[in-house]
Amino acid sequence: MLNVEDVKRDFPVLKNRDLIYLDNAATTLTPEPVIQSLQEYYKKLGASVHRGIYQLANETTEEFERARNSIADYIGANSPREIVLTKNCTEGINVIAYSLERWQEKSGKVLVTEMDHHSNILPWRFIANGSKKFQLEYVEVTKEGRLDIEDYKRKLSPETVAVAFPGISNVLGTVNPIKEVTNLAHENDALVILDGAQWLPHRAFDLSEYGVDFLTFSAHKMLGPTGLGVLYGREELLRMMPPPFGGGEMVLNVTRQKVKLTDPPQKFEPGTPPIAQTIAFKAALDYLEKLEVSQIKDHVDNLTQRAVNKLSKIPYIDIYGPKEGEPRGGLVSFNLEGVHSHDLATALDSLDNIAIRAGLHCAQPLHEVLEINSSARVSFYVYNSNEDVDRFIAGVKEVKTILGGENGE
Ligand SMILES: Cc1ncc(COP(=O)(O)O)c(C=O)c1O
Repeated sequence: MLNVEDVKRDFPVLKNRDLIYLDNAATTLTPEPVIQSLQEYYKKLGASVHRGIYQLANETTEEFERARNSIADYIGANSPREIVLTKNCTEGINVIAYSLERWQEKSGKVLVTEMDHHSNILPWRFIANGSKKFQLEYVEVTKEGRLDIEDYKRKLSPETVAVAFPGISNVLGTVNPIKEVTNLAHENDALVILDGAQWLPHRAFDLSEYGVDFLTFSAHKMLGPTGLGVLYGREELLRMMPPPFGGGEMVLNVTRQKVKLTDPPQKFEPGTPPIAQTIAFKAALDYLEKLEVSQIKDHVDNLTQRAVNKLSKIPYIDIYGPKEGEPRGGLVSFNLEGVHSHDLATALDSLDNIAIRAGLHCAQPLHEVLEINSSARVSFYVYNSNEDVDRFIAGVKEVKTILGGENGE
């Protein structure tokens, strides 16, 4: 079991502020070892990578590539050449989408899901709007908040170019059957893009188990620095795909007429990469491994089930996604009848410094399907305790009494 009090001590923000932070699905707080790593880069290294031929540049490059190796190991990639460093998860999906559009000879449907984040809808939608090559279609979500596999099977065909979906929904918390979705796509010669933004922070992920072609996630949702995302792509695909952006350090040779690109991953990383962030992300991965990913999952699962259990006892509340006891990522979205989610979030913050998310969570199509105009969301991580959940529940009840109108009890 995680010792939450010990963990909390590693997070300066929690020492410096009286705060119950329950917005971890948006971004996580930063532990001391990651902050130290960032400082060390600026104090002891500080050169650019893959350019200079002096000692400091070589050392910086070594640290940077060591971090890339750690990322590859963390997800079970075959080689660090499969790890492209991006600005965030969003950029990774954009890189795949624009690159596929230029490279894929096959034209046809790209399937996304109604539960996708805008990051995994808009890149595909922009391309579908601008070219005749791809058409976008949404796999439906069932009333229970699951991916509708029958609808997926109906929409999937040998004409499907790619299937892009989230491992875990950032609103419903639904844990999607990655293997089943991937196997079905591959039977139809469609490429699979997994948005791992909500999976990677608290679940182990081994590429050899799932066999997806591409995976994207963000460092800042798993204790790492902002400004860094990871795009994994199967090496043979990355070798064939053209990069959507151009710039320095992605080329072997440029004349006024001709360009010879480097191999992946550098060919997808034009310009100076996020050096400090990448090196510090290794410290975040080491920290997660020290806590043990299986323990993190159990801890987050317990907090989430506790929240679902206690929330569901509150009258006039709608909880979205899996039922109590069913698999769920570390978050719960809900609405209190008669209280707008923004009012709830503002009141929790001012009553007891409880930070939760309110609004559309960059998943407006899903809110359209759910026929709601917003929702409140709590999400948990390694430094949250049972007491945090209980204070949040007490806060919700208090807000309901104050703002709940006729149904406030
Ligand atoms: C499921 C999902 N995908 C993608 C993203 C985008 O992540 P980022 O903003 O770091 O690019 C998020 C962020 O909330 C997310 O929850």
